[in-house]
Amino acid sequence: MKEGQALMVRREAYVAPSHFIDTVELTFDLDPVKTRVLNRMRVRRNTDLPAQALRLDGEDLTLARVMVNGQGTSFKMDGNQLVLENLPADGESFELEIFTTCAPLKNTKLMGLYVSNDSFFTQCEAEGFRRITYFLDRPDVMASYTVTLRADKAKYPVLLSNGNLVEQGPLDDGRHFAKWVDPHRKPCYLFALVAGQLVSREQRIMSRAGKEHTLQVYVRPGDLDKTEHAMNSLMHSVAWDEARFGLPLDLERFMIVATSDFNMGAMENKGLNIFNTKYVLASQATATDTDFSNIESVVGHEYFHNWTGNRITCRDWFQLSLKEGLTVFRDQEFSQDLCAEASARAVKRIEDVRVLRTAQFPEDAGPMAHPVRPDSYIEISNFYTVTIYEKGAEVVRMMQTLVGRDGFAKGMALYFERHDGQAVTCDDFAQAIADANPTSDLALLLPQFKRWYSQAGTPRVHAQGTYDAGARTYTLTLSQRCPPTPGQPVKEPFVIPVGFGLLAANGDDLLLELAGESHTTAGAHATRARSAGTRMLVMTQQSETRVFINIDAEPVPSLLRGFSAPVVLEFDYTDAQLLHLLRHDSDPFNRWEAGQRLAVNSALVAIKSVAASADNTWASVLNDAYIGAMREVLRHPTLDAAFKELVLTLPSETYLAEQLDVVDPQRIHAVREGMRQQLATALTADWEAIYAANQDTGAYTPDAVSSGRRALSGMALSQLCLAARVSPSAGSGRTDEWPGKTLQRFKDASNMTDRFNALAALVSSGHPLAANALAKFHAMFKDEALVIDKWFALQAGATDRGGNILPAVRQLMKHNDFSLRNPNRARSVISTYCQGNPAAFHRPDAAGYVFWSERVMELDAINPQVAARLARALDRWSKLAEPYRSAAREAITRVASKADLSKDTHEVVTRALAD
Ligand code: TRP
Ligand code: ZN
Repeated sequence: MKEGQALMVRREAYVAPSHFIDTVELTFDLDPVKTRVLNRMRVRRNTDLPAQALRLDGEDLTLARVMVNGQGTSFKMDGNQLVLENLPADGESFELEIFTTCAPLKNTKLMGLYVSNDSFFTQCEAEGFRRITYFLDRPDVMASYTVTLRADKAKYPVLLSNGNLVEQGPLDDGRHFAKWVDPHRKPCYLFALVAGQLVSREQRIMSRAGKEHTLQVYVRPGDLDKTEHAMNSLMHSVAWDEARFGLPLDLERFMIVATSDFNMGAMENKGLNIFNTKYVLASQATATDTDFSNIESVVGHEYFHNWTGNRITCRDWFQLSLKEGLTVFRDQEFSQDLCAEASARAVKRIEDVRVLRTAQFPEDAGPMAHPVRPDSYIEISNFYTVTIYEKGAEVVRMMQTLVGRDGFAKGMALYFERHDGQAVTCDDFAQAIADANPTSDLALLLPQFKRWYSQAGTPRVHAQGTYDAGARTYTLTLSQRCPPTPGQPVKEPFVIPVGFGLLAANGDDLLLELAGESHTTAGAHATRARSAGTRMLVMTQQSETRVFINIDAEPVPSLLRGFSAPVVLEFDYTDAQLLHLLRHDSDPFNRWEAGQRLAVNSALVAIKSVAASADNTWASVLNDAYIGAMREVLRHPTLDAAFKELVLTLPSETYLAEQLDVVDPQRIHAVREGMRQQLATALTADWEAIYAANQDTGAYTPDAVSSGRRALSGMALSQLCLAARVSPSAGSGRTDEWPGKTLQRFKDASNMTDRFNALAALVSSGHPLAANALAKFHAMFKDEALVIDKWFALQAGATDRGGNILPAVRQLMKHNDFSLRNPNRARSVISTYCQGNPAAFHRPDAAGYVFWSERVMELDAINPQVAARLARALDRWSKLAEPYRSAAREAITRVASKADLSKDTHEVVTRALAD
């Protein structure tokens, strides 16, 4: 650490900016080695505050000149800040001109202005604009931008920035220029420029109000045939935001540009979104169904930011979830609304909850736990987390649950009425939703509800139910507690909406009638008094009891339907009750959840059992009732393939680890693999039938129904390859029938989903045919970077070879196609191994941790954001069993003690060691 770098930024310390910047005129002379930036600003003192110096942020810049009102001026440097003290003292605005240079080619951090494949790109969120010019680099300073780009015309024929192109033309020496004016004021983190050899797919659309817009997707020449899906997703996004929230596109021109060097998924720069190629490019030959659906979500997400983030932005970075939680909620709703069938909506919800529980719950229980609105940070980039994004989205979803879908739309309308054009806080958002719904539970409980913003940690809701046959009542007691998190030893009760239903013996939902609730009450409550199906119980106390009356026989409770709150639900279900829910629950989420609980229970018994199974193969972890239930699901005549695939997918190793106090990753892996093997062997005939019944012959489309069928048939192949390992017909050896068929499938497949699933089935069964197929796959797609990423990831994530994958990973890093500088490629090998392959990573000899520490330090010198994300692989070290625990701590200590560590990585490892 360099001295003075590790300064903590605190939310409470917020003060308004000393100055405002009204207009910015930027002129770029683009050159990869040395780009010249002329920045002419109109600046005005904030007269609400006492007069003070103007301190501008800058990083890795060479300063050539500073002028005020056309005159040279005195200035000093304070660390990275340029300090101007002798400024015009009155409230009048003045012109400030700053001339700097920077070195885009040397910019390996990919923040600020950088070069990728001979083109220029920018990334300014959160604090990258200071790497382009000196500025008040904070989101509450909003300005109008005029940008002139000058560059060599042959090398950089396309010159883009935010807003509208107002002028372009030739210059001397083969150069040319383009001038862009953004009609909307914006914070500097939304600035963008792109220059290079790019081609575009273009689409003209008409808004509801009859306005014309041009949509463009820019890619490298040769990738144009992979932009149709992104363009379709963009058109759907525009239509959806207008239809669902009445929010139109406010620009004549909306551009998306793809780059293969990008730290994150994509960026919502005003009118000029910049995307990781992974979330733009797709063709049936190169992209899987998952890729197609991710593209739809991310295109939607960035587009929706145009209102939630750009028109209304964040006052400070502690409010990040104001735009991210809300925009994730919006992209989740968008993807659900695009589903034709209700069952597909449920599948999307289950997928989203799975992400929350396998990634966010561990974060909330670990050393990096932070509230949705954090109180402090060292490096803001570390707080682009699943808590800010996914848990933030759940908080917004609970608001919608509490005010209803229409009430939420009214709340959004009020939010825009009040705050359009402003930089605001999470409080402002919650207040608007509540004020638009004054009689709602949200309005009545607002201060308590906002604890979701201030308290970290995942609440645990414990439920207990008793049936009284004599009184014909069912008494439900709910209690909540939330474990301590760093800096927050004690928590106050949350407002928790609990979706609730009672199932009769025949599986039907019972009529729900609460004791003491009148049938004749006027108003909204009257309709609620006797309602079948789901009822939203809004918990506010540490412990509460509800009595349901007129219940004729003991029911089975269905709790937290639709996953109505981001909590862990504890209920002591019997297997019989879970099997009943799995068979009958009218709530598809809880139907799936029942199956997961059954599997988790069996897994935990095996993991915790004192004696390991003799050969560590865990051949009978699952009982007959569970296997019978899975068979029933597979044979079910009306359930969707996508839903079947979700039910048959066992809880992940990460999810299982979170259910344990002490984690032995090898043991968890062995037990889960045993369970997979058991399903494969016990259900072989069903998997064969499923495979045969889920072949599509028509043209490829990535819709929910056909991608569900591909997912299920892919699972069947993988199970059949596993079953072949211990097929009785071949004695203790294997039969090659299904591996052979899988190889054939791999060769014949007409789309990437089927091809990749077949390849993965061979690899994960450890069959010798896998090596041949992997080589063939590489040869087929050697020029498709995103496919080669998959090829690397499949090998780094493999669990065959007795888990001894590390030598292969080291070998992969020596491959000609490997590069540490390209984030997608680095992640495909290193993050997949360290964060997606627990049994191979957590080695008793600690070699996995040594590898991790070497890579974190190596990457830190190149790209701190990528390094800091990898650093989080050992977040949960303190839960590990020995010898893993001590070895992991040692590896983290080694990283933490490195000199000159970035503040990104420094913050992650020091927080880990404090655990
Ligand atoms: N605002 C972007 C999004 O969620 C996130 C993002 C893109 C980002 N690139 C980044 C955040 C670089 C930090 C650093 O849509
Ligand atoms: Zn976002």
